[in-house]
Amino acid sequence: MKKICISELKNHVGESVTLYGWLYNKRSSGKLRFLILRDGTGYLQCVTFKNSVSPEVFEFTDKLTQESSFEVTGTIREEARATGGVEMDVADLKIISHAGEYPITPKEHGVEFLMDHRHLWVRSSKQVAILKIRHRIVKAIRDFFDERGFTLFDAPILTPAACEGTSTLFETPYFDLGNAYLTQSGQLYAEAGAMALGKVYTFGPTFRAEKSKTRRHLTEFWMVEPEVAFNDLNDNMDLAEEFLEYIVQSVLADRQEELKILERDVKFLEAVKRPLPRITYDAAVEILHKNGVEFEYGNDLGAADETIISNQFDRPVMVHRYPSEVKAFYMKRDPENPKLALAVDVLAPEGYGEIIGGSQREDNLDLLLERIKEHNLPEEAFSWYLDLRRYGSVPHAGFGLGLERTVSWICGLDHVRETIPFARMIYRNTP
Ligand code: 4AD
Ligand code: MG
Repeated sequence: MKKICISELKNHVGESVTLYGWLYNKRSSGKLRFLILRDGTGYLQCVTFKNSVSPEVFEFTDKLTQESSFEVTGTIREEARATGGVEMDVADLKIISHAGEYPITPKEHGVEFLMDHRHLWVRSSKQVAILKIRHRIVKAIRDFFDERGFTLFDAPILTPAACEGTSTLFETPYFDLGNAYLTQSGQLYAEAGAMALGKVYTFGPTFRAEKSKTRRHLTEFWMVEPEVAFNDLNDNMDLAEEFLEYIVQSVLADRQEELKILERDVKFLEAVKRPLPRITYDAAVEILHKNGVEFEYGNDLGAADETIISNQFDRPVMVHRYPSEVKAFYMKRDPENPKLALAVDVLAPEGYGEIIGGSQREDNLDLLLERIKEHNLPEEAFSWYLDLRRYGSVPHAGFGLGLERTVSWICGLDHVRETIPFARMIYRNTP
């Protein structure tokens, strides 16, 4: 017999079905017991009337504890007031496993307690909603690139050198070959892919030994990185804005119920339509000065600065042409002003800050070699990367979108720790 889940019950009104799940909650009133069953696809109120079931089953409903797993059979009835539009009139019920006293109760728990119990916390309705939205975002990311002729190009996780600067590398011994490092970004490999396949994207876990203890830093996070041959900075910004619109509109189309559970004000999301505003770093600094911030021209933008800048706009803003000194070695300099890099960061609204970082890449061999030396990077480790400039170098550009920051923003959360099943941060590597 095919197993039916709660999300499919609308098509089974009037039928007798058997469902499997866990007890989310219950209440009683006289001869009635209301059991809320959850099975990961939804919630169902199972109404048990004393006269409709055997005495054993009725007695049993009183013993059923929160998170006990059980099997329940009954008739599905339309009920406009119920979340899924249906309820069950219970005929029979069997326990699968009795749960001991469940540590997470409807009372307020501190966030550290919840993070210590993350393996159980993921069962609660808000966490389920976040993880479903995360999944929808991942699907939108894949669909977007797949529909546009990109090829998925998986980058290695164990790498011989830094991509985004040496200060945030996780190191691990690697047999007789010295040390390997957990990748900070798949970009350099994606560039090799773009020279082979034209348009590629990498999508996988990336690692930063960040000392930052903020609401937007993880040590392990997922990044998607498109890389396109013959694209310049403007093409890169065109791609980024189309991409963001696509992701947000996909979530709005398919995850209204989850956004409601999270009490997300969707008017901020509905505004995410092309064109997105584009401002230069210089214009961004002007905004800061106009707002009374003592910001020294030439510095990188901090989180507080990003909030002030993004508050000027109702949708994500693209800030381009940063001082090359604060940006990565591989970024091409602006031919109009070599002090600036052809870089772009996309800042999400409502104080969420940078969600995308990208650039046009340095495609000239000699200039790239100079940058590698300036940044004190081990030239030998980059010899393969330099080959990309030796054999048919072309202008190209790409960017990286941080998945968890994007989920945090779309869900309207306070912290990225809730956007991934098991967060890794400086002070946490369990459960
Ligand atoms: O700006 P980043 O460091 O750029 C790169 O890694 C480039 N190689 C990408 C490229 O051009 N292909 O990181 C890109 C994005 C950030 O905008 C942010 O969303 C996310 O990755 N990110 C983090 N997310 C969570 N925790 C961290 N510690 C993060 N560091 C970066
Ligand atoms: Mg960045």
